Amino acid sequence: MKLLEQAIMERGRVIGSDILLVDTFLNHQVDVFLMQEIGKEFAAHFKKNQIDRVATIESSGIAPAAFAALFLEAPLVIMKKQASRILTGDLLAATVRSFTKGTQYELTVKRDFLPKGERVLFVDDFLASGEAAIGAKKLIDSAGAVLAGVGIVIEKSFQSGPERLREEGIELYSLARIASMQEGQILFH
Ligand code: G4P
Repeated sequence: MKLLEQAIMERGRVIGSDILLVDTFLNHQVDVFLMQEIGKEFAAHFKKNQIDRVATIESSGIAPAAFAALFLEAPLVIMKKQASRILTGDLLAATVRSFTKGTQYELTVKRDFLPKGERVLFVDDFLASGEAAIGAKKLIDSAGAVLAGVGIVIEKSFQSGPERLREEGIELYSLARIASMQEGQILFH
């Protein structure tokens, strides 16, 4: 998606060889006009997959996922990373390890918000090692729903995520695919 690649080039910043800072438009300050275009693009691509519901993980996935849900005319469900005393009832859980941040969290969602048989599109901001998407798939599977596709805003193709998702037979659509990066230079596929 040209508009997104342009935003990455003009407003992103590479740290080291594997972290892209996009807090100017994606995950801290948010360019809602760009998010709107991102939502339209996901909706146009995944229309054929008969999506009933969009799912994401708090917090950075919410903006692009909300716009995808809007244009797919589907509800949005936000999987939680933070334990909460008021989040009770029939909860599904899966452990997710973050290789980028070196942390681990329990991904949870209310079973009621992933109805059995529904076709779910999972949307997230980054695909790195694929842990978040695999964790989301575990929750969707255990709810008896169907993961009907994964939509990613920025894929770091040089990390293991894309390959892992393919091995799981998951349909992946990434709007920007970074082949390699270093300070001052980003190469897209
Ligand atoms: P994975 O899910 O693909 O395995 O990714 P990984 O564990 O490596 O990354 C975990 C967190 O780091 C995720 O955010 C992800 O969005 C973020 N991340 C991964 N690569 C980059 C990058 O190049 N740039 C930036 N800015 N973030 C990256 P999170 O911990 O779930 O936090 P949140 O921001 O969604 O709250």
